[in-house]
Order: sequence, then structure tokens, then C-alpha cells
Amino acid sequence: MLKDKLLQLINKVKDDFQPGMSAEDFWTLEKKYLGRKGELAKIMKNLKELATEEKKEIGLLANNVKNELESFFSEQKKTWSDDNVDESSEVDLTLPGEKTQQGHLHPITKVQQELEDIFISLGFIVEDGPELESEYYNFDALNIPFYHPARDIQDTFFTEEGNLLRTHTSPIQIRAMEKYGAPLKLIAPGVVYRYEASDASHNSAFHQIEGLMIDKEISIANLIAISKEFLSLIFKKEVEIRLRPGFFPFVEPGFEMDLKCLLCNGKGCSACKQSGYIEFMGCGLVHPNVLKAGGIDPKEYSGFAFGFGLDRLIMMRYGIEDIRHLLSGDIRFLKQF
Ligand code: DAH
Repeated sequence: MLKDKLLQLINKVKDDFQPGMSAEDFWTLEKKYLGRKGELAKIMKNLKELATEEKKEIGLLANNVKNELESFFSEQKKTWSDDNVDESSEVDLTLPGEKTQQGHLHPITKVQQELEDIFISLGFIVEDGPELESEYYNFDALNIPFYHPARDIQDTFFTEEGNLLRTHTSPIQIRAMEKYGAPLKLIAPGVVYRYEASDASHNSAFHQIEGLMIDKEISIANLIAISKEFLSLIFKKEVEIRLRPGFFPFVEPGFEMDLKCLLCNGKGCSACKQSGYIEFMGCGLVHPNVLKAGGIDPKEYSGFAFGFGLDRLIMMRYGIEDIRHLLSGDIRFLKQF
């Protein structure tokens, strides 16, 4: 009985097999006869009920049948052509996976956040203000009289209602003084707008960071100490600075702060136009009129203020030659950071 079943197995397989059958049907067929619960296995299960002699004989036969079936299936596989493979149902688990694209923060956001962390560690707060400003906060309260060239229509985007897009982050000084009074230590990052043509170093929208520290007996020494500290932290090395006299209506005295060129260390190179220094920011001691406008008594308090371009700082740190890259939204550029 078992012997017949075994011998029939080969014919059954050959009957079931159809040339050109799909891969899936072929694997099913193979499994049906040779699988762990397949036809051959079922027959083999009965083997143990046989007498020893018979067991030997049938066992041998079963082995031969198994070999024959296996070689039948492997022969068929050899003639297998790609046409039989239904690709939609095939998953090649050995293929390397597809990498998902991962985004990251914009370099401006990254450096801004780094600066915020540095100033917070120095006891400053981070303050925000509106981009659509009034003439009062952007100019008048900052001691910029109506005849000052900065109020020229050429430099400022005005709205029809007589408001404007802030031309600098300095108006946040006044808003914060009104809100918090003295003493006060803040930075205020933000986008500012200028009505001017763009080129490699100018854009009509760019980023500034304003700084303000008001307390009793604040002097230029405090300005220098804080500036050296945050610049060394952001550039991750000791920086040297120098002050030159500079005019800004909202500070007195006012200065331009230069950084010793980080590339040539003051020797002179193309980045610093052979001067050894790079212009970095405007700063000074807050003008008494500005303190008054903010509701702070200049007889009791004094302060320093500074303002610098974040885009410029980022260009210096990463060696970017054109400011327009930063806001271009060009993925190829941004992927480098
Ligand atoms: N607001 C100035 C500008 O946009 C920069 C500036 C200069 C800010 C001197 C200050 C300062 O706070 O003290 O050019």
C-alpha cells in the first residue's frame, strides 16, 4: 500500500505540474509534495507502524522518491525564465533599504538658537517684536529725527496706512523697556527689511540680533566683556575685538566693533580686504533720550546696546560668499549644513 502510494507520487507531481505555471503556483506545488506537512511527509508518518524489514525497504524507496522529486523540482527551476516571475508579488528581502530623506534646521535658525542659548546662559532674556512697525518705534523713540537720512523713503518699505516694515531690531529695545523697566538684559533676534537692491552682500530682507543691557553704572567695559564672551562662544575660539567711533542716533558714544579676522588672525587676507579686521556690529551706550522714551530715568540707569547682522555672522562662520544663498530656499545649498 505504502509502496504504491510512494510510486504514484512521482506521477501525481508530473500530472500537477504545468509548464509555464506562475512562480507562486510552482512554489505551492513544491510545498504540497515536499513541504513539512506535504504528501511525502504524510506517507512517511505511517512508516513507524511497519515491521522492521518492511520499514527498511519502504524507507529506502521513500528516500529515492524524495531525491527524484527534489531533482524534478530543481530541474524545473533551472529552466525557469524571468517571465515566470510575477514581480509584483516578489519581495527581495536582501536588497538594501531605501534611505528616507531627513530634514534639518536652517543654518540661520541653528546659529540663532545657539546664540540664544549663549545669551540665556549669561542671564539675558530673548525678546520678540512686530515686523510691521510704527514710525514711532522704528525711528522717533530711537532718537532718529525726521530729517535723518535713515528715514529716507529709499531705505524703508512703508505701508499705505503710514506704518513700515522695521528696518532694524532696535525698536524692540523701546518696547521691552516699556514692558519690563530697568534693570534689563535682553537680546532680540528678527528679520528686518530695507528698500534696496540685492547683491552678494545685501538683501532686502535679512536677520539681525539686537542686544541691550540696562542697569546701574553700566559702562563700555561691560559692553566689551559681554561681546568678547559671546563671540568667543559662537566662534568656538578666543576672538579679539576693537572699537572705532561710529555714529548711531540711539547711542552716545557710538562705536563700530571690528573682529580680528578669523581666517588670517590679523595678518591681512582677501576675506578682510588685507586690513586684518572685519566690521562686525554697531554698538554704544544707550542715548539718554532713548532711555527716556522707554520710561527709564537716565540719571539712575545707563546701558549698552548693540545690533549685528546674523546673516553676516553665518557667512563668516561657514565661509559663504553670497548672502542671497541663505534665503534662496535652494535645497542643494541647504543640504550642506
Ligand atoms: N540698528 C542698527 C542698524 O540696523 C544697528 C545698531 C547699531 C544697533 C548700534 C544698536 C547700536 O543697538 O547700538 O544698522
